[in-house]
Amino acid sequence: MKKDFFACTAVALAAVVPVLAQASPETQTRAWAASCAACHGTQGVSQGGIPSIAGEDKARLLALLLAFKKGEKPATVMHQHAKGYTDAELERLADYFSRQKR
Ligand code: HEC
Repeated sequence: MKKDFFACTAVALAAVVPVLAQASPETQTRAWAASCAACHGTQGVSQGGIPSIAGEDKARLLALLLAFKKGEKPATVMHQHAKGYTDAELERLADYFSRQKR
């Protein structure tokens, strides 16, 4: 019985792991964006003093993120966040948030 359980688990994992490894770029971008939601609100619509980033122009968002990454734009926390991503990944985040509705 126990052996069957482990065999089943192994089969299930073998089926699921490749699916996770091949997560679509959109799924991956959404996972990154979830870390932004803690401050910028769900889907980038913020309630507090932190700027909303949903539905903003993609080029503007990308320019801001790149400026944070290079330390050109003054910030409290965004330098650290922007530095965690490659320029291409920041472009995907800018694209993602530009497509969210306010
Ligand atoms: C710990 C809270 C926090 C997290 C997490 C966070 N941000 Fe920010 N973000 C801020 C604050 C605060 C500002 C205002 C600038 C500053 O003080 O750093 C800001 C500013 C911005 C701006 C500029 C908006 C404008 O109109 O000026 C963009 C774009 C942005 N964040 C994108 C992101 C993205 C994308 C992520 C996820 C990778 C993210 N932020 C994660 C707090 C956060």
